[in-house]
Amino acid sequence: MAEKHDSVTKVSKKLLNSLNEAIAREVQVAIQYMWQHVQWGGVKGFAVHDELKSIGIAEMKHAEAIAERLFYLGGIPTTKPSPIFVGNTLKEMIKRDIQDEANAITLYKQIIEAALKEGDVTTGFLFKQILQQEEDHHDTFTTLLEDL
Ligand SMILES: [Fe+2]
Ligand SMILES: [Fe+2]
Repeated sequence: MAEKHDSVTKVSKKLLNSLNEAIAREVQVAIQYMWQHVQWGGVKGFAVHDELKSIGIAEMKHAEAIAERLFYLGGIPTTKPSPIFVGNTLKEMIKRDIQDEANAITLYKQIIEAALKEGDVTTGFLFKQILQQEEDHHDTFTTLLEDL
């Protein structure tokens, strides 16, 4: 592991904890979407199958980007995901995924506000980029659910 260093930007412990909450959720959905992708092979789920794969990969990249930022700020990224839900039917899966995306959107808006309040523009910018993608995911899952 790289040695801990002092960063120019200092943020509160509360903000660092929020970043770890974000990482736990990103790792959760990365695994969740990957396992849903693996378990879903039906004809009806063909479009969903590919979406779950590419969105799962996007979530893994989010986890890494947030972990890098957290480590830079002096925190240690968690390895523990939030509770993972795979589901038994496609409808059940996508309904839960929509909820998880909505929760991420709420949390990331809070993180952006808190980061900017503490003068941490870079974290704010990072989460604005991620937020835009979570809104896309939410939109994709919502559209997919309409066809199920
Ligand atoms: Fe994400
Ligand atoms: Fe997402």
